[in-house]
Amino acid sequence: MRSIYTDKILILDFGSQYTQLIARRVRECGVYSEIHHYSLRIDQIQSFNPKGIILSGSPSSVLDTNSPRCAPEVFKLGIPVLGICYGMQLMAQMLRGQTEKGDQREYGPASLFMVEDCLLWSGFMDKENGESVWMSHGDRVTKTPPGFIILAQSQNSPIAAMGYPEKNFYGVQFHPEVAHTPRGKELIKNFLFEICKCSSTWSMASFIEETIPRLKAAIGRHGVVCALSGGIDSSVTVLLMHRAVGDQLHTIFVDNGLLRKNEGEEVGNVFKDLLRVPIHHISAQKLFLDGLQGVVDPEEKRRIIGNLFIEIFEKEAKKIGNVKFLAQGTLYPDVIESTSFKGPSATIKSHHNVGGLPERMHLQLIEPLRELFKDEVRELGRELSLPHSILKRQPFPGPGLAIRILGEVIESRLNILRAADAIATEEMQKEGLTEEVWQSFAILLPIKTVGVMGDERTYENVIALRIVESIDGMTADWARVPHEILAKLSNRIINEVKGVNRVVYDISSKPPSTIEWE
Ligand code: XMP
Repeated sequence: MRSIYTDKILILDFGSQYTQLIARRVRECGVYSEIHHYSLRIDQIQSFNPKGIILSGSPSSVLDTNSPRCAPEVFKLGIPVLGICYGMQLMAQMLRGQTEKGDQREYGPASLFMVEDCLLWSGFMDKENGESVWMSHGDRVTKTPPGFIILAQSQNSPIAAMGYPEKNFYGVQFHPEVAHTPRGKELIKNFLFEICKCSSTWSMASFIEETIPRLKAAIGRHGVVCALSGGIDSSVTVLLMHRAVGDQLHTIFVDNGLLRKNEGEEVGNVFKDLLRVPIHHISAQKLFLDGLQGVVDPEEKRRIIGNLFIEIFEKEAKKIGNVKFLAQGTLYPDVIESTSFKGPSATIKSHHNVGGLPERMHLQLIEPLRELFKDEVRELGRELSLPHSILKRQPFPGPGLAIRILGEVIESRLNILRAADAIATEEMQKEGLTEEVWQSFAILLPIKTVGVMGDERTYENVIALRIVESIDGMTADWARVPHEILAKLSNRIINEVKGVNRVVYDISSKPPSTIEWE
């Protein structure tokens, strides 16, 4: 049987905001790909043994001194290379062609016209009318390197694609990886299958088949603990580990009293009853509430919650005994963010997994999802029969409602927020919007405002509603929810939740705002 890792593509990252998209497109075509820093040494590239190499775009200019460059031997390995945008300009520069500053930046859609037929265009290039592609560049290649021919042109780029077919070197000025290049995936497919001769082996079904025996071998007869939060990453980790080592896995679910309404029960029902995965359910509401008493600073809240979590976890693992491993749902974007090129476009992501656990508990970390993108984890979850309710769950912060109550976290305020949030969730679900948006939730503000109910003046709490659209949580925009739905949400919250007399809607984008209010 061919391994899912036999035919793989190496992506050298020069810092483009689209690098991860390239890797995802390649994998969507059924070929495993990894992103590495552009400076990867040639011996490391050789031992990775790729069937093809893709050079990413970059916010840099090849004309700058000290612009990022890959090892020159990349072009001597006899392996196909595809340069995208900066990658193509770099290829031109390194192979004795020429790149110059364009008179105009070319940004947005452009029409690409074929100059020379080649394998890259197989099966999709409209020779008459051209193809729509997405451009985003300032520099452009003005002279192809020796041996190369011009493959396509656009209005602003006389050399919009070039290639040296005998050597399997190709460069494209546009971005085939973005959705704005409608036939881009076909170009990537052509590179993978026609040029690199990859076979398509990467799928989540074969990932399971290959990963389970590896996990079994690594773990042997030892115990593994895993913290289940009910979010998709930890849920899939638990399912995969359970499939691999069965009852050697000890899954711990901590109810810290900061969960949304019914969340604890829902997770319990899914895992215990539906999936038959036993869970140590730990009720620690009081412990967390006591710990948070008098605390208003959000970072302090986060620290206290993290520490309490570690404490509980440590205690439970001791009780279980013979535990050697901790399984965590770290994903590939978290892995590459710490290793790949940090250009100006690199975004800062706050990663709030429970840190400090493995060292303190002397456990070895197992991260079975560390090669996967979020969409692959969802697919893996589907393969492992994780129900839709969890697969499609909106992200929820580790410190839970504690950071959605601004000011001190006390039980009465938790009850108000939980009730308001449940109404918001219910109405969004009724309208079929829960899966349309990235997140929708309520926040309890630390101020009171005046209102009138019946004949009486009230002086009560304000609930803010945050409903955002986003691709990855790094940037977000407030959702243009129809006014009638907002009206219904506000009416129901004010009428049904005692202690609330005002609802406001957050119309801030991220950046400069964030999604959570903290
Ligand atoms: P911000 O508020 O930084 O949030 O715009 C970005 C995304 O991250 C989620 N978030 C968390 N997720 N643990 C998590 O797993 C956390 O501690 C945490 N804090 C924020 C947030 O809900 C949003 O989706």
